[in-house]
Amino acid sequence: MQKKIPVGILGATGIVGQRFIQMLEHHPWFEVAWLAASERSAGHTYAHAARWRLKTPIPERVAKMLVSHPDPKDAPKVIFAALDAGIAAELEPRFAEAGCAVVSNSSALRMHADVPLVIPEVNPDHLALVRNQAWRKSSGGFAVTNPNCSAIGLVLALAPIEKRFGIEKVFVVTMQAVSGAGYPGVASLDILGNVIPFISKEEEKMEAETRKLLGKVADGYVQDADLIVSAQCNRVAVEDGHTEAVSIKLRKPATAEEIISTWKEFRSVPQELKLPTAPEHPVVYDTGSDRPQPRFDLDRGHGMTSSVGRLRACGILDWKFTVLSHNTIRGAAGAALLNAELLKAQGYFD
Ligand SMILES: NC(=O)c1ccc[n+]([C@@H]2O[C@H](COP(=O)([O-])OP(=O)(O)OC[C@H]3O[C@@H](n4cnc5c(N)ncnc54)[C@H](OP(=O)(O)O)[C@@H]3O)[C@@H](O)[C@H]2O)c1
Repeated sequence: MQKKIPVGILGATGIVGQRFIQMLEHHPWFEVAWLAASERSAGHTYAHAARWRLKTPIPERVAKMLVSHPDPKDAPKVIFAALDAGIAAELEPRFAEAGCAVVSNSSALRMHADVPLVIPEVNPDHLALVRNQAWRKSSGGFAVTNPNCSAIGLVLALAPIEKRFGIEKVFVVTMQAVSGAGYPGVASLDILGNVIPFISKEEEKMEAETRKLLGKVADGYVQDADLIVSAQCNRVAVEDGHTEAVSIKLRKPATAEEIISTWKEFRSVPQELKLPTAPEHPVVYDTGSDRPQPRFDLDRGHGMTSSVGRLRACGILDWKFTVLSHNTIRGAAGAALLNAELLKAQGYFD
């Protein structure tokens, strides 16, 4: 049996850090070897430092591990980063500079010209940007990012349609779960029985990231897709799962049957390579008249599938539909894990 690759988690105590620990527990290639968080947590056992919010128990081995200071000195070479964006902007480059492969969830580096923003089913070729990074040339370290939790479900649904018919315009309204704000996140008095029509910087991220993800690599850099995206983001009183109401204008006409079959047939590199975290179906079209719903459809593909439903004609653009994806799995830890599996499969960890 091949030896597992030791990995570290920066921001291990947070909502996304916890998902990493849960998803890595029985991972065939990676093994949690190092945990780090803020000074508040450093020096404590993980069980003591983390306010565990998941339904499965903390893996016994991890519960006893000591949380380290966020210093690359003793860290393994592969780091999953789940830090708040502010501190990520400082720490992620420090780890890459020290020779680590930083597989990040935060927005800190996503839009940097030489940092790949990747969904393995959509733009695996963007990983080549790593070659431009100064860290890669000096220490061998590098950084790769996954998109914002609301952009990823949307782009999984858009990518096969864009490839076959071309997309000119996207209008999207989100209904985003409270877990998307981390822990403790939004105060219960603000969100219970309420909808908050504002999530700081989320609309800008969705719009810019969608264009970068669907863009093409040319001369070593990404040329953004020529696509107009307008996003309106709302926080709703749902624990997990971002739901999105989407309208699109296509470049070539398509029937509903053609669009649905494009989603059904969508398979890509992670499915071909049989990456351990890859869902069998990246997108599933649900024929139920009132689906997808977070309560029933969130765990499709172990939380890695983007569920789509309610395709119908749009009176303003061409077509409209609903998308649902798991914000802390496909939108965060699962996204980074799939990126790391693709990196390993392509020899970036050798
Ligand atoms: N939640 C989601 O659905 C989601 C989805 C996609 C992307 N993301 C992104 O993922 C990142 C983490 O999100 P989250 O929801 O897990 O947030 P969170 O629950 O607030 O967790 C933040 C983590 O960062 C650590 N941290 C804070 N300040 C630090 C410092 N100075 N040095 C080292 N570690 C520090 C915290 O450690 P302590 O516990 O010690 O304070 C904690 O482990 C964010 O950038 C977020 O935007 C989140």
